[in-house]
Amino acid sequence: MDIVTVSHLKKYFGKGEKQVRALDGIDLAIEKGKFTAVIGASGSGKTTLLNMIGGMDIPDEGEVIVDGVKLAGLKEKQLAVFRRRKVGVIYQQFNLIPILTVRENILFPVHLSGETEDSAFFQEIVRLLSLTDRLGAYPHELSGGGQQRVAIARALVAKPAILLADEPTGNLDSRSGWDVLGLLKLSVETYHQTLIMITHNLEIAQMADRVVRIEDGRIRNQE
Ligand SMILES: Nc1ncnc2c1ncn2[C@@H]1O[C@H](COP(=O)(O)OP(=O)(O)O)[C@@H](O)[C@H]1O
Ligand SMILES: [Mg+2]
Repeated sequence: MDIVTVSHLKKYFGKGEKQVRALDGIDLAIEKGKFTAVIGASGSGKTTLLNMIGGMDIPDEGEVIVDGVKLAGLKEKQLAVFRRRKVGVIYQQFNLIPILTVRENILFPVHLSGETEDSAFFQEIVRLLSLTDRLGAYPHELSGGGQQRVAIARALVAKPAILLADEPTGNLDSRSGWDVLGLLKLSVETYHQTLIMITHNLEIAQMADRVVRIEDGRIRNQE
């Protein structure tokens, strides 16, 4: 079953001679529960594609459907609800809130939606990511790898339909990078979570179920 369908997607930035065709007609279907790696040179359109899938930006043409939700036509408020309910994101910068503890950071999006956490699931994720002993710590007290594990926990705790990661190991040394990647893969397997991850690292891409290569805003080849 496909959880994401992208059809004829186009996104241009700027006008006239300076116009950049960031996405120039993308067709892509992503199967539920699979880990898809997106690779391609810098500037090829990877982040733009992820932003369209996650409802963080709006395409000029084409269509995105995520978990049965057609993004075109959603109003800004509905898009915000879509992002909160359906999408977990992990960035190269961990984007943790410095004055909140690890526990508060992880639960922040859930509390923001006015929901109460599934505390059994919270405990389980925290254990999976080896954060049980660090719940009272502040982000700066953790290593880079530790901070990214918190960001992963935060992305998973709301049980998103899709998990989007934009070079999640880009700020980590190679060893913590592999640790984080292993944990992401474990989360995909444990929760049958769909993961779409941008990476520059071909070795990392090889751990994915499928690799999608983008070149100049188009898909070049897929395995
Ligand atoms: N907000 C923006 N305004 C203008 N140009 C942009 C914007 N976002 C991306 N671009 C351009 O679109 C192209 C694709 O960018 P991006 O999706 O970030 O590539 P990647 O993530 O593969 O490095 C690049 O040429 C980039 O400069
Ligand atoms: Mg990018």
